[in-house]
Amino acid sequence: MKDKICLVTGGNSGVGKAIASGLAKLGAKVVILCRDSRRGSLAVEEIRSKSGNNNVDLALADLSDKSSIREFVEYFKQKYDSLHVLSNNAAAFPMKREETVDGIEKIFAVTYLGHFLLTNLLLDMLKKSAPARILTVTGGPGILQKLSINFEDIQFNNKFNPYKAALQTAFVKAVFTFELAQRLRGTGVTANTFFPGLVKSNLTKDFPWYMKPFIKFSEFFFGEQSKTGVFLASSPEVEATTGKFFKNMKPVNFKARHYDRNTGKDLWELSERLCGMS
Ligand SMILES: NC(=O)c1ccc[n+]([C@@H]2O[C@H](COP(=O)([O-])OP(=O)(O)OC[C@H]3O[C@@H](n4cnc5c(N)ncnc54)[C@H](OP(=O)(O)O)[C@@H]3O)[C@@H](O)[C@H]2O)c1
Repeated sequence: MKDKICLVTGGNSGVGKAIASGLAKLGAKVVILCRDSRRGSLAVEEIRSKSGNNNVDLALADLSDKSSIREFVEYFKQKYDSLHVLSNNAAAFPMKREETVDGIEKIFAVTYLGHFLLTNLLLDMLKKSAPARILTVTGGPGILQKLSINFEDIQFNNKFNPYKAALQTAFVKAVFTFELAQRLRGTGVTANTFFPGLVKSNLTKDFPWYMKPFIKFSEFFFGEQSKTGVFLASSPEVEATTGKFFKNMKPVNFKARHYDRNTGKDLWELSERLCGMS
């Protein structure tokens, strides 16, 4: 991965930090996108010292805020001349319904919509740097295949349930990836989605107290790597693979009950509208 520039969102925690560390170990130049400069700087130091690679930078942006994402992209394009890997991992999981400064439900906004905007604003750079890859983390394929997108109330204005909102957003990210891959055919830029494995995480920090013992216990089974994420970002084996769902470093036969190309197109149009791109 020497001479490759990789941008990793959520790089100070969980899956993002695992992927940033793995890519740094492989010799890539890694830029972690974080919203908090202290947490981001600590992660940069940790990734540099554990990987022995000093080529790790911090860039600040708030993925819940469209103007922050646009400012970040301008900064990134001025500072770096290419982008070979975009790894979309950041996520929010509040227990109560919250809205961002742009008036979007927060789980949907940070975990998906911010990445939709970020990815689209970076597409020209990725295409110029091809071969290039976009990877977007999501949940387990078994459960996601049974889900659908409620276009009538995608932001859970009625009957907000954080777990349902997070699951729908995970499915949305898979649909986004399949549609993105179609749109990128022939450009040398691939788009895949993946289950990262069980990675130590901060995502459950706002879960209710009675779930904490279970979370503490289950942490025992969680590691600090995402082999599938690093594989998708770096392996020559998958350089040309696109539009797939990966688990354990292999594509799975993802057959979602409520998905066809129109679902992808509808999601794309809605996302463009919500991002003020159309
Ligand atoms: N961990 C797993 O085992 C696992 C398994 C399956 C799927 N996933 C999926 O992977 C995704 C990431 O999970 P995780 O475990 O890595 O969670 P995490 O440890 O909580 O990391 C989330 C990251 O997103 C960042 N973030 C939150 N709000 C942001 C904002 N407004 N702007 C920019 N960055 C923001 C966080 O920054 P702060 O530190 O500043 O909050 C943090 O770096 C989730 O969608 C999750 O469902 C994870």
